[in-house]
Amino acid sequence: MKRMTVLGATGSIGCSTADVMRRHPDKFSAHALVGHRNVEKMAELAAQLKPQWVVMTDESVCASLRERLPAGVKLAGGMDAAVELAAASETDMVMAAMVGSAGLPATLAAVQAGKCVGLANKECLVTAGHIFMRAAAASGAEVVPVDSEHAAVHQCLQGHDRASVTSVVLTASGGPFRQRDPASLRAVTPAEAVAHPNWDMGAKISIDSATMVNKALELIEARWLFDLKPEQLDAVIHPESIIHAMVGYRDGSVLAQLAMPDMRMPIAYAMQAEPRLETGIAPLDLARQGQLTFQAVDEARFPVMGLVKTILRGGDSLAIAFNAANEVANAAFRAGKIGFMDIVTTVEQVLARTDDVVVETLDEVWLHDAQARGRADEVISG
Ligand SMILES: NC(=O)c1ccc[n+]([C@@H]2O[C@H](COP(=O)([O-])OP(=O)(O)OC[C@H]3O[C@@H](n4cnc5c(N)ncnc54)[C@H](OP(=O)(O)O)[C@@H]3O)[C@@H](O)[C@H]2O)c1
Repeated sequence: MKRMTVLGATGSIGCSTADVMRRHPDKFSAHALVGHRNVEKMAELAAQLKPQWVVMTDESVCASLRERLPAGVKLAGGMDAAVELAAASETDMVMAAMVGSAGLPATLAAVQAGKCVGLANKECLVTAGHIFMRAAAASGAEVVPVDSEHAAVHQCLQGHDRASVTSVVLTASGGPFRQRDPASLRAVTPAEAVAHPNWDMGAKISIDSATMVNKALELIEARWLFDLKPEQLDAVIHPESIIHAMVGYRDGSVLAQLAMPDMRMPIAYAMQAEPRLETGIAPLDLARQGQLTFQAVDEARFPVMGLVKTILRGGDSLAIAFNAANEVANAAFRAGKIGFMDIVTTVEQVLARTDDVVVETLDEVWLHDAQARGRADEVISG
């Protein structure tokens, strides 16, 4: 029985993780469920999974949750409690599914404690990639990707000589605005940007998909997860989201992983690779699907895909600033303070003011993160 701590349990990935756990009660139990503010969802999950612990990282909502928890479930508030439970000896596996760099302290604590970590929270790897991977190497923690593209790469690498890999190509759906006239994008509303054509995801990542920032974050994530050079990494638009990634080998062979676009597949694979778990996902029917199509990524439409090439070749400070500025701009767009096109413009302007330096410690990460957030606020307030 694997005892799970789910960070971001109340979110889209957290709820899909709970779905996999409910299908396999003989294999997984909940040690801790961690949410931020969503009391309603947490009460529902706690009733279903009966965890030992529930944590709300925003302590102010704990009082309204207390009465709604089943008997025997312990409640704590604040990020420190999440960090402690992620590293606790009673936790075997941590599903890292908080959104944004807020997920870094608890995810890193799990890695430092040598846990098996299912990593959905790409922002923490983008922000502290080499600190994170160095900690995993030191503790022996197993970091298994949950992002569908990285789970695909992981599967295509199994049993193959890593030195023979020549390329890793992540697919991108192109989001809701792949074919829209760029001139009309200025008027896009948050509701339109969140409506992803293939995936049902949280608001932040859905908007990141519409700007293609998500693919840029994923390329940086892949660099760290699989120890790849920038020139080995690429992305291609594949609107059907059936092929999730491809790995090219030097003999000309290319391995691809296919599945219906449903996050329960990569989540289940991270929770138990073999033997494969039943997930309830509809089987892939290629004859019915008919066509799988591909296009090069148009950098004029998605300028962030040009920016990411510089970030991949640069030091850590650029990736930290990229992520932080995007988190601020993404939230400002959702709050109606800036337009859709201003998201990437804000990120560009912050990057233009960021020195390209190597970052060695977590304190330095937070310093660069705070600087970039401050600069993004300045750009947004004009
Ligand atoms: N959704 C997908 O299909 C998908 C695919 C690949 C990767 N990912 C990655 O997985 C992560 C989660 O994505 P999601 O779509 O599941 O997001 P989501 O639905 O928005 O859920 C986010 C989770 O993080 C919690 N949270 C929000 N702000 C927080 C804070 N300041 N401190 C601590 N916890 C906080 C939320 O708690 P409350 O709701 O309780 O406030 C919720 O549990 C992201 O890094 C995303 O890039 C997602």
